[in-house]
Amino acid sequence: MSYTVAVVGGTGEEGRGLAARLAIAGHPVVIGSRDAARASTAASEVAALVTAAGHTVDITGATNDDAVASADLVLITVPFEAHRDTLTALAPALAGKTVIDAVVPMRFERGPRPVDVEEGSATEQAAAILEGITVCGAFHNVAAASLLDLAHPLDDDVLVTGDDADAKARVRALVDEVAGLRSVDAGPLRFSRFVEGLTILLVGVNIRYKARGGVRISGLPQ
Ligand SMILES: NC(=O)c1ccc[n+]([C@@H]2O[C@H](COP(=O)([O-])OP(=O)(O)OC[C@H]3O[C@@H](n4cnc5c(N)ncnc54)[C@H](OP(=O)(O)O)[C@@H]3O)[C@@H](O)[C@H]2O)c1
Repeated sequence: MSYTVAVVGGTGEEGRGLAARLAIAGHPVVIGSRDAARASTAASEVAALVTAAGHTVDITGATNDDAVASADLVLITVPFEAHRDTLTALAPALAGKTVIDAVVPMRFERGPRPVDVEEGSATEQAAAILEGITVCGAFHNVAAASLLDLAHPLDDDVLVTGDDADAKARVRALVDEVAGLRSVDAGPLRFSRFVEGLTILLVGVNIRYKARGGVRISGLPQ
């Protein structure tokens, strides 16, 4: 099934990478930005990258509001500092959509460090702000550099959290459509703090190893 996916903050590296991979998987993608021109430029650049890799895709750009209005699924890829304000502003437009939060509350101070979140995690903060709107967590552990390197196959698990079984199944199906990604049911929203925290560990490991490793959970049934 094809969904239109909006990527709020999609002009950044993570948003561009997810836009590229989801478009290759066959979904129309709208890259969102605070600035329509910046969104258009990013959409053209990502489309050119993906086309050069031999795929035909539908990637456009719009303001975050217009991107959300046009979409069924909305991915959030803004920095944590912008998370609360961005979601608060978009809340009316997000009614009836499924929101996928990929935001990691972290900062750098001689290496990556967690930022305390009153609600427990960025994903739970999104659910608190967007009361009545379905929120799942996903993609936190997939590095933008891997997503954007289209010559390199992905080989990652995506830990998906959520309290709504139907929405989680929809998000997992979306993840599984991306070549090289496998979705894993990581439990309810309250487990999002562990998924987000794992990214901080991964960033540290990747800095030490000059790598861009992700997560693979062994021993799961096929
Ligand atoms: N980079 C990774 O490898 C990676 C991996 C997993 C998860 N993540 C998470 O994904 C999110 C995005 O990461 P990124 O590296 O792509 O971030 P980024 O480049 O710093 O930011 C993404 C976009 O957010 C928008 N933005 C920035 N400041 C904002 C503000 N104050 N208010 C509203 N929008 C603002 C900008 O778009 P406009 O200026 O065009 O509006 C920017 O291009 C982060 O939460 C990060 O933790 C990143």
